[in-house]
Amino acid sequence: MKICMVGTGYVGLVSGTCFAEMGHDVTCVDVNAAKIEGLKKGVIPIYEPGLEELVKRNAAENRISFTTNLAEAVKDSLFVFIAVGTPPGEDGSADLQYVLGVAREVGRLMTGYKVIVNKSTVPVGTAELVSAAVREELARRNLGNLEFDVVSNPEFLKEGDAIADFLRPDRIVVGVENPRTAELMKELYGAFVRNGHPIHMMDVKSSELTKYAANAMLATRISFMNELSQLCDKVGADIEEVRKGIGSDSRIGMPFLYAGLGYGGSCFPKDVQALQRTMKKYELGGHILNAVEAVNKEQRNYFIERILKRHNGNLKGKQVGIWGLSFKPKTDDMREAPSVDIINALTRAGATCVAHCPEGTENAKPMLPEANVKFVDDIYAAAEGADLIVLVTEWSQFRNPNWEKLGGLVRTKELWDGRNQYTPARRRAEGWEYHCIGRGKATV
Ligand SMILES: NC(=O)c1ccc[n+]([C@@H]2O[C@H](COP(=O)([O-])OP(=O)(O)OC[C@H]3O[C@@H](n4cnc5c(N)ncnc54)[C@H](O)[C@@H]3O)[C@@H](O)[C@H]2O)c1
Repeated sequence: MKICMVGTGYVGLVSGTCFAEMGHDVTCVDVNAAKIEGLKKGVIPIYEPGLEELVKRNAAENRISFTTNLAEAVKDSLFVFIAVGTPPGEDGSADLQYVLGVAREVGRLMTGYKVIVNKSTVPVGTAELVSAAVREELARRNLGNLEFDVVSNPEFLKEGDAIADFLRPDRIVVGVENPRTAELMKELYGAFVRNGHPIHMMDVKSSELTKYAANAMLATRISFMNELSQLCDKVGADIEEVRKGIGSDSRIGMPFLYAGLGYGGSCFPKDVQALQRTMKKYELGGHILNAVEAVNKEQRNYFIERILKRHNGNLKGKQVGIWGLSFKPKTDDMREAPSVDIINALTRAGATCVAHCPEGTENAKPMLPEANVKFVDDIYAAAEGADLIVLVTEWSQFRNPNWEKLGGLVRTKELWDGRNQYTPARRRAEGWEYHCIGRGKATV
């Protein structure tokens, strides 16, 4: 089936590539000409494991192509996917200017029946706005009778595992208003659910809300564990033990139950905020979401304040080794990354930071104070001469360093583990002053 994928970011590029992998004929469109030129030459603009190989293979086999020419891509396609950004507006609500801009463009360009699929994360009611925008443009062209359908098809992929998530999804959610479009969507996704996982067909509004509900639920689990971790520190309990104790309950489960530095990235912070705005619009309290967001902000500060307190608020002349910059492992995405707040706070207190991240460095550079941060190529270079080391992002490369070698490189064996990656008793036995999250009295 012929697909036009508008927006070639984390979601559009992965979705388009995976549709091509399943044999569909995909044209990816972006307004960013440099990105498109790069993609034509096989330069992948983001780091996502496995993506480069898949893009190159499908491009070589002519199932995926890249263009800035929306007109041609729309003309040739039955499906037009909208996968552009929905960043937070000033009041936290989702800024729909890019989504509606694409809708208007499609209305200006289409000449036959289209299924317009909204893959961007958008508030309840956006499909109606997309329909209205398309209809308005068609009316302007005296093509008011031209048929189209607007479908909601939120995306649940995780950066870092995006290919597997897209090719073998737990479920696919589709919001449709008529059976004809439902059949087309089933055909489009048929190859992705051979494993028996469901395609949930539902009304459009429920589908739009499902995406926010999913992200808000996951963010809630994280904030819940973070809030508990602070209590663990106070009472001398170990959050890791509590996690195992509750996570093995089949009603609760282990995923997204880790205490750490709070959630970041391009989705949870903005989607929690956008759902809060929707609640407010309908005069609902949104109490849980308010608390989830407040705890998330507090958790970063809690960690930062502990470091500062340990040094009497003064890090002048101190060198800090930073392990990990991207908001989570296996991505180069720096949006809402805790590393930015942490590094800013430490440098404000007088520190210089020497940072290593396997993939996040290039995106991090413009976001960090140039004079006080140096970027290096490996974990040991970040530790050389350090007065303290801060593990910010739990890339697997940081899990089992050579502790003996590290001990010989640092100036002081002080380690701040923002992700509870190490065994406290072992680090302490090796002479490290070891700090972590919610494991105040941990002995294991
Ligand atoms: N990143 C994720 O993990 C993830 C997961 C699920 C859902 N989402 C949602 O998917 C949407 C896209 O997110 P993303 O992370 O891929 O964004 P992104 O910022 O990485 O990519 C958006 C792309 O759209 C392009 N664009 C903007 N306006 C355009 C236009 N008029 N025509 C063509 N291209 C245009 C931009 O140049 C950019 O390349 C958002 O709503 C996001 O919330 C993201």
